[in-house]
Amino acid sequence: MNNVDTMTGFSELKETLSSFKCAEYIRETIMQLLNSKGDKLERLYQDADRVRQECVGDEVYLRGIIEFSNICKNDCLYCGIRASNRNVKRYTLSPDEILETASAMIGNQQTTVVLQAGEGSTLMDEEFGNLIRKIKQETPLSVTVSLGNRPYETYRYWRECGMDRYLLRFETSDPDLFHLLHPACTLEERLECLRYLIELGVQTGSGFMIGLPGETPEILADNIMLCRTLDLDMIGIGPYIPHPDTPLADEKNAYNGDEEMFFKALAVLRIFNPEAHIPATTAFDAVFPGVGRNLALQRGANVFMPNSTPVQYRKDYLLYPGKPCVDETADQCATCVAFRVESIGRTIGKGPGHSRKGRFVKGNSSPTVGK
Ligand code: SAM
Ligand code: FES
Repeated sequence: MNNVDTMTGFSELKETLSSFKCAEYIRETIMQLLNSKGDKLERLYQDADRVRQECVGDEVYLRGIIEFSNICKNDCLYCGIRASNRNVKRYTLSPDEILETASAMIGNQQTTVVLQAGEGSTLMDEEFGNLIRKIKQETPLSVTVSLGNRPYETYRYWRECGMDRYLLRFETSDPDLFHLLHPACTLEERLECLRYLIELGVQTGSGFMIGLPGETPEILADNIMLCRTLDLDMIGIGPYIPHPDTPLADEKNAYNGDEEMFFKALAVLRIFNPEAHIPATTAFDAVFPGVGRNLALQRGANVFMPNSTPVQYRKDYLLYPGKPCVDETADQCATCVAFRVESIGRTIGKGPGHSRKGRFVKGNSSPTVGK
């Protein structure tokens, strides 16, 4: 079998990855890497960092996230803003507030605004499309959207309005576990949405939570494989953290006591998805306060998503407990992020940080194929 232990550079990595003819070999190799300990674990982190450097460079792209509404019609079993959680004070920002918040990112080296909310928030599809148009007309920002499963026509309309990217995690690759956690949705429906987005030429991001109750190392390996099969432009992963006001309140993370697994998953993800944009997600800081996201950047990640939600709303968008930055202003977060990036010897990305995949023209979000 090919041995990822002996890689020395990107060309060799490409050769190694393309020589994996059989999915079983990839899965077995992923499992082996997820089991790394001692010197092998250090080697895994170094390899992931080197692959990140060779394939996506030293720049860290800042994508400011605005959590513009916590209204959600879904009841995902793990999620703190699920519809049945009566302890949440619900809010929705107006389009003007969102535009104003996005405009403030420009001075903070943030080249993308990420617009995220629960599913079925109070902004209508058309109103939201107009907002995308305005942001694209009035600012130089790229626009990433994260609003869950939507019909093809809605994605197409938002794409026409100027949406550059979309984030929709598949959460777990195991169909039974997926359905158990999302009573109103199947994995197939979620994957169908991802296929729509790819077909529409939207830069597409997905990913999963690490350690959902019921997850096995085999499922984790399959999650990493699914990211690779989908050939994603962006991949976001982060540890599952139990929220006290959900039906899973007492269900510990599947790797409770072995939190190193969160970083192992990230490092392996990078090695098997060399050209994807991978954020150091907030949940890493919730588990490892103050250092989680720095370590993630040193073990495969190349994107940071500072929280730009107006400070008075942040504590109401609590997907899980221990979420950092709930009391800081957007400016404080921006200063802190710049310091963190520089402290690990990296630079802040200057351009939009579009997809590195061949189907997109470099520096332009228009697809070169499929049109
Ligand atoms: N409605 C959009 C969607 O469903 O994609 C965006 C909002 S959703 C709350 C954002 C992400 O939060 C989910 O994809 C999920 O992975 C993550 N999340 C929710 N609850 C979590 C928890 N308890 N621990 C860790 N991550 C969680
Ligand atoms: Fe709102 Fe899952 S409960 S997205």
